[in-house]
Amino acid sequence: MALTVVMNIDRLLTQLTIDEKIAMLTGSDTWSTVPVKRLSIPSVVVSDGPHGLRKVKEERPGQDALQYPAVCFPTYSALAATWNDELAQQMGAAIAGDCIDNKVDVLLGPGVNMKRNPLCGRNFEYLSEDPYLAGRLGTALVNGVQSRGIGTSLKHFAGNSQEVDRFWVNSEIDERALREIYLPAFEKIVKEAKPWTVMCAYNLLNGVHCSQNRRLLFNILRKEWGFDGIVVSDWGAVHDRVESLKASLELEMPYCKTSFESLKKAYEEDRINEYDIDFAVEGILRLVKKVSEAADLRDKVKDTTDDRYNVSKQVADEAVTLLKNEDEILPISKKIKKLAVFGLAAADPTIQGGGSAGVTPIRKSAPLDYIRKLAGDDIEVVYAPCYNQMTLTSILEIQNLPAALNLAYEADMSLIFVSDTIRTELEGFDRNSIRLQPELEKMILQLTAVNPNTVVVVQAGSVIDMSEWFYKVKGVVYSWYLGGAGGESVADVLFGKVNPSGKTAETFPLCLEDTPAFDGIDSISLCDTDNDGSFGQGAYPCAYPGNGKVSWYREGMFIGYRFYDTWKKEVLIPFGFGLSYTQFEYSKLKIVQDENTARVECKIKNTGKCKGRETVQIYVRPVQPYVLRPEKELKGYVKVELEPNEQKTIKVELDERAFSYYSMNDFDWKVDKGYYEILVGSSSRDIKLTGKIKM
Ligand code: BGC
Repeated sequence: MALTVVMNIDRLLTQLTIDEKIAMLTGSDTWSTVPVKRLSIPSVVVSDGPHGLRKVKEERPGQDALQYPAVCFPTYSALAATWNDELAQQMGAAIAGDCIDNKVDVLLGPGVNMKRNPLCGRNFEYLSEDPYLAGRLGTALVNGVQSRGIGTSLKHFAGNSQEVDRFWVNSEIDERALREIYLPAFEKIVKEAKPWTVMCAYNLLNGVHCSQNRRLLFNILRKEWGFDGIVVSDWGAVHDRVESLKASLELEMPYCKTSFESLKKAYEEDRINEYDIDFAVEGILRLVKKVSEAADLRDKVKDTTDDRYNVSKQVADEAVTLLKNEDEILPISKKIKKLAVFGLAAADPTIQGGGSAGVTPIRKSAPLDYIRKLAGDDIEVVYAPCYNQMTLTSILEIQNLPAALNLAYEADMSLIFVSDTIRTELEGFDRNSIRLQPELEKMILQLTAVNPNTVVVVQAGSVIDMSEWFYKVKGVVYSWYLGGAGGESVADVLFGKVNPSGKTAETFPLCLEDTPAFDGIDSISLCDTDNDGSFGQGAYPCAYPGNGKVSWYREGMFIGYRFYDTWKKEVLIPFGFGLSYTQFEYSKLKIVQDENTARVECKIKNTGKCKGRETVQIYVRPVQPYVLRPEKELKGYVKVELEPNEQKTIKVELDERAFSYYSMNDFDWKVDKGYYEILVGSSSRDIKLTGKIKM
């Protein structure tokens, strides 16, 4: 039975000395807050990371830290592909279970930054290019974690969409893009799920470091959205502790030696007063109180590591996204007698990206083992790794290709596994390309040339440019980074034991040059890399990644499908797309309007031969807007499971925000009069039903 400490915050504020209070405003070490033993105030323990617990056991200078093993769930880009709020909630609850077992009070996640650019090294940690989808899944995750008495830290607030120059780059974002794209996921989660903490980002936002940005942390987060938790700095994001306190940042992390002195000096010189300090200490005491009151909830948790691993398997099952299935090459037919599997990633899969989110997996399944298992005695499975283990520099060597080509030639079907690695998708660095390594692309083409019955399975945390080989193979399975259970899930999908239902939560462009923040010039070479304020001869400052000081979000609201669809650009895979082994029929759209809100209903039927899940997506399109608006925007979705021939009616409520834009005239959300189309689709580019209402 846990002991709940009864805390009287008002009394504690009168009992704490000013020195004790100031000391509480920075960490006691890397992962915990300062305790005050004299007054029985315990410390709060925090730990990474978003898709599983990463608790450090021992820091090892010059090497990766030793960590406690935990269940490694699919990364957020994979979770987002499930479009399943219920699963996100279960995943949050399961991660909280690992936190409880490891005595962690606050999980440092979820990360809900927008995917502005596919190069961002942390895209695998983030959910989507769409704020509505990220907001819904993020709300479910926070609810899941906190339902078990473990706090969350919603991060990185805000405008942190690149790793290049992350500590000093100024994200220059116009107000509409901020309100309509970069803030709504945070806003929804803060208002609906009440995260215990919010973590500020490293970067500057419109000229001010997020850690000392009072407009962001106080005016918007607390006054407008009613946030009642505390703001924690990202690790080392505080540059001026006094300014950050004035901006209402309660807790600086990790422990910082100069923090106490600078705050004490400012207090003695009357630059801050006891009220400023008490505001922050009170927030931290409220957090301590929440932790202590959560003891009973935590006590009730009885699930085991196996149960949590099973949740991770379910998420992985629904995340696998089937992008191409020509001639119904999948699921693997009983007629196949010899199956050739290629790629080291089949035996040693990449299950997550690198950096502070890296979980030490308690268990890791390899697709090859499960392929062999499901093939049984009926199908002969032959395997060639084809390339070596990737090194620190990510140099890859193709090995024994002639023998592999021979295997492919003799087989009825080939499965080629390729992957990005934790060295290509990694915190602190952006990718410099969105293509697979050239050796891998060449390998796919060579193997496909000798056997066209080829399916490529891609392990990556974000979108990649597949145009070099996509049209030449028959099947493409995007497995994202699926966590420890992913090997089993991929095999289940390949053999039809699981019917795929993943849908892209980010658009796959044809190439990097087509992406909205790309300037059509070699941006990296035109950056102010030497930081002297000049961009090189004849160059002009580029949108992404900026000039080393500023990143201009010139594309404004138009990221992801909002860009491609408004400007009618061809893409490789649209937003919201994913195939199934069955088919769905949409019918009977009904829209019931009530002033500025509406209820959308339609019927959906499984017309194929096997059970399947479909995500019905609702987009809103203002027909003749008075102001510049994206062609359409996602405003609702439902995932349904249907047996063959089964039909269900789905219902989606559209609130006023679904029709609004952020008015720069009113500095508020506004619905303009006029017609709005309601588009019901199976992806952003496959609209099945359309209706119209007048506001
Ligand atoms: C990352 C955060 C993480 C923190 C603690 C920072 O570098 O940006 O996401 O939670 O470290 O590891």
